[in-house]
Amino acid sequence: MAINRKVYTLDEFTIQQLRNFPHATGELSDLLRDIGLAAKRVNVEVNKAGLADILGEAGMMNVQGEEVKKLDLFANNQFTGVLQHGISCAGIASEEWDDYVAFDDAVSRQSKYICLFDPLDGSANIDVNVSIGTIFSVYHRTTPKGSVVTLEDFIQPGIRQVAAGYIVYGSSTILVYATRRGVNGFTLDPSIGEFCLSHTDIKCPVQGKIYSVNHGNFFLFEERVRTYIHQCQAKIAAEGGPYTQRYIGSMVSDVHRNLLKGGIFMYPATTNKPQGKLRLQYECNPFAFIVEVAGGMATDGYKRILDIVPASLHQRSPLFIGSRQMMEEWENCRTDL
Ligand code: AHG
Ligand code: MN
Ligand code: MN
Repeated sequence: MAINRKVYTLDEFTIQQLRNFPHATGELSDLLRDIGLAAKRVNVEVNKAGLADILGEAGMMNVQGEEVKKLDLFANNQFTGVLQHGISCAGIASEEWDDYVAFDDAVSRQSKYICLFDPLDGSANIDVNVSIGTIFSVYHRTTPKGSVVTLEDFIQPGIRQVAAGYIVYGSSTILVYATRRGVNGFTLDPSIGEFCLSHTDIKCPVQGKIYSVNHGNFFLFEERVRTYIHQCQAKIAAEGGPYTQRYIGSMVSDVHRNLLKGGIFMYPATTNKPQGKLRLQYECNPFAFIVEVAGGMATDGYKRILDIVPASLHQRSPLFIGSRQMMEEWENCRTDL
């Protein structure tokens, strides 16, 4: 029987990782600790959402032209606050800010990272107790230390991410983050208020059984997507379970499930949204990085997400992401055969 098994907290784990890099400064550990702290604060609000006056619309639209919820604003303020007060982040960009925010103080000008985030993903699910989340992405700044960060720091291709991660506020709350060395998950232990290592070295199953897409948009998809969906449905008809379709409507929860169980998640272009709905910098890139490190793939339907050079901060992209074999089946899907 194993007793006294060491359970690493997020902090202990990131500091342990530093031991492998004698020249590391610990700034990434700091950044992840800050993000973990903001996540715990958001988690508390999410858990009492029906009690506190935190449900519903904030009465404004964001730069994306979408209705902002009170919890979107709360989460945005929490993540902005911890990163601004921390010592590792020189500036941020958020789905909820019109523009990037440069932290123009003596410490932040010396900081080595910038951070992009979707503070609350799955906003439409807030009021109905369905899992929602936060997505974040970390890059080295490209401008020299000592200066104030500029737009160029925030529109780097996803391949340059140093780390990316997400939090799911669900039946339990989990923080998953990836560096090039691997993907690890930390479940929040409410009794001690710490994220504790629960999912070590996550690998996305090579073949999956789940396809995730908003079927309501079926007739708005290009023919190739419709053909692929028909192929999935034909498999279900031929084989029965466990091949199946699942779509929560919070990509953070949908992709988390598919990362652990195996599957493909798609948000294709539609005739009314030719660039798709999801944001390249806040949603597609972080998940593409995480899923690739875990052994999966991510494309916009034609090219690798991580190779796209963004032209602007809030650019959108179609997204196809998940288990390697399912992604290959999708890639091989042709309408001209
Ligand atoms: P957000 O709440 O940050 O605006 O993101 C919502 C996104 C994503 O999480 C989800 O997969 C997708 O919107 C759902 O869109 P549809 O309702 O069009 O399927
Ligand atoms: Mn989102
Ligand atoms: Mn959001």
